[in-house]
Amino acid sequence: MDRFEIFMAAPPGLEAVVAAEAAARGFADPQAVPGGVTVQGGWPDVWRANLEMRGAGRVLARIGAFRAMHLAQLDKRARKFPWGDVLRADVPLRVEVTTHKSRIYHAGAATQRIERALVESFGAVIAPEATLILKVRIADDMCSFSVDTSGAALHIRNHKEWVGKAPMRENMAALFLRQMGFDGSQTLVDPMCGSGTFMIEAAEIAAGMQAGRSRQFAFADLASFDTVAWGAMQRDVAVAGPVRFYGYDRDDGAIRGATANAARAGVGAAVAFGRQAVMDLMPPEGPPGIVMVNPPYGSRIGQRKLLFSLYGALGKTLAERFRGWRVGLVTSDAGLAKATGLAWEPPGPAVSFGGLKVTLWQGRV
Ligand SMILES: C[S@@+](CC[C@H](N)C(=O)[O-])C[C@H]1O[C@@H](n2cnc3c(N)ncnc32)[C@H](O)[C@@H]1O
Repeated sequence: MDRFEIFMAAPPGLEAVVAAEAAARGFADPQAVPGGVTVQGGWPDVWRANLEMRGAGRVLARIGAFRAMHLAQLDKRARKFPWGDVLRADVPLRVEVTTHKSRIYHAGAATQRIERALVESFGAVIAPEATLILKVRIADDMCSFSVDTSGAALHIRNHKEWVGKAPMRENMAALFLRQMGFDGSQTLVDPMCGSGTFMIEAAEIAAGMQAGRSRQFAFADLASFDTVAWGAMQRDVAVAGPVRFYGYDRDDGAIRGATANAARAGVGAAVAFGRQAVMDLMPPEGPPGIVMVNPPYGSRIGQRKLLFSLYGALGKTLAERFRGWRVGLVTSDAGLAKATGLAWEPPGPAVSFGGLKVTLWQGRV
């Protein structure tokens, strides 16, 4: 298996942004498709996508496909499949099957046949709690096999010990920053920073750090893994000042948590957090930059009436003190975005997040 299809899952609505990131990171000809982005590549591309892609939710390797019209055929062909090219018999795995417009319509029966073939022809260990997942999609009688090479979702960078009530996912924060045109050079302010996600992502991007540098990946348990090549792919980056990323929150716990999270990420020298209500927000010295904010919204925290006055206060503070800055506001509620009184450009796509649809509103003060 030299080259195959690699699928980078994307938050629905942000596929094109993930494709743009993949192109910027040197992946050849990324194609946005519903739910993700496909590229062609080999195992080193899989490792690098996991390590470097900030917007992807996980990375799947499409390891092969065959046609099966009925369960006996599925069973026979699954026994002949070269599992050993990719999987290791000593690493437990589980099988997940979805079926779509196919003569094999019973996902449970298909799962059972594939698992049995894996056990009897390859000596695999099937375990319901295994972290390694073989994903099988049966569509139009074609069975496609993919391995989830990430394991835990990629937004887990492994730096966040403290999370607030409604933390932004790291991959979404990175994609919203990209949509704002953040390229690492601008100053950033988050007046309601919670666990500090936007500022920590921004500081890492500015320093050229690899998103997955502190975590483990499922691909390390595959037969195709090469420890030496993987080691050579990783970079050590030290972050120096000055501070260019400022996060504030009125909650003491958030500020303590965000500060600890930034230190664990190794970006403490570039980020400053302070306890402060939004009304007291002042721009840092220097040229105008970007305000990135994800205020409380929806049914998750806060009540709508109080939220109207909070968004109003935010808009007033920005209008009075942040002339020339760009503002990116993430909320699930168009009425609240408008309550800021800021002039918004046509909003971006609605992105599914935690049972809600959130939108990035962009404007200039
Ligand atoms: C949705 S959370 C932000 C989550 C953050 N983006 C993260 O990734 O963790 C909203 C934050 O706004 C803060 N907040 C609410 N009212 C505020 C105010 N008047 N001034 C400053 N912060 C406020 C809350 O304490 C909370 O941490």
